Amino acid sequence: MNSLPIFFIFFLFSSLSQANIIEVDFCVANRALPRGPKGYPCKDPAKVTTDDFVFTGFRGERTFNNIYGNNITLAFVEEFPALNGLGLSMARLDLDVGGFVPVHSHRTSEIIVVIHGTIIAGIVDTNNTAYYKRLEAGDVMIFPQFLLHFQINVGKTRALAFVALNGANPGVQITSEALFGGNLPAKIASEITLISPEEVRRLQRIFSKNDLTATF
Ligand SMILES: *[C@@H]1O[C@H](CO)[C@@H](O)[C@H](O)[C@H]1NC(C)=O
Ligand SMILES: *[C@@H]1O[C@H](CO)[C@@H](O)[C@H](O)[C@H]1NC(C)=O
Repeated sequence: MNSLPIFFIFFLFSSLSQANIIEVDFCVANRALPRGPKGYPCKDPAKVTTDDFVFTGFRGERTFNNIYGNNITLAFVEEFPALNGLGLSMARLDLDVGGFVPVHSHRTSEIIVVIHGTIIAGIVDTNNTAYYKRLEAGDVMIFPQFLLHFQINVGKTRALAFVALNGANPGVQITSEALFGGNLPAKIASEITLISPEEVRRLQRIFSKNDLTATF
């Protein structure tokens, strides 16, 4: 008996099971209920309207008032509940001259397309090898899941880019804010980084001022 078709079917099912499959057409998040590992429970489908499928938050101009000189507009499941269960999300990145997205990671891959400006974007892999490149308008770069990465506006004008991520809730973690902007005591932060207590306190003064949710 030729087992090839069976193998193929097995392969198909096992690869499909990796994908984000839901057994309904859509499951717009009901954010009033607690989220589980696969996302939020669904909003009553009878109450879903076209507007649920449209996100208008990327419109308009941006100003810059954080220490990074960036302004990041998220279209994750919290902002765009129709993404729930679909395994993708987006963000708009505005970078002032000299602005940047600090080194961070998330559990999804990310793909960026530069709309205008000049951005140096980079990844650092688990071998501590850095891959970075000057991107111009129209360029696309992929940041593989979990790896540390960053973007810097190195041009003479503001930069604009959009990113897409293959998860509705990517879970962004900014290294400097995780170490110095949260509730980790200065003594521990100093011990685990070999950074002097004085320097840790200086970093805490910088990063604790930032609203962790307001930026990547
Ligand atoms: C981003 O731009 C908007 C619109 O100008 C502004 O209201 C908001 O405060 C800015 N956010 C940051 C972090 O600069
Ligand atoms: C890891 O990085 C070193 C340089 O630090 C390099 O020589 C080596 O080839 C890298 N290994 C892999 C698997 O990329």
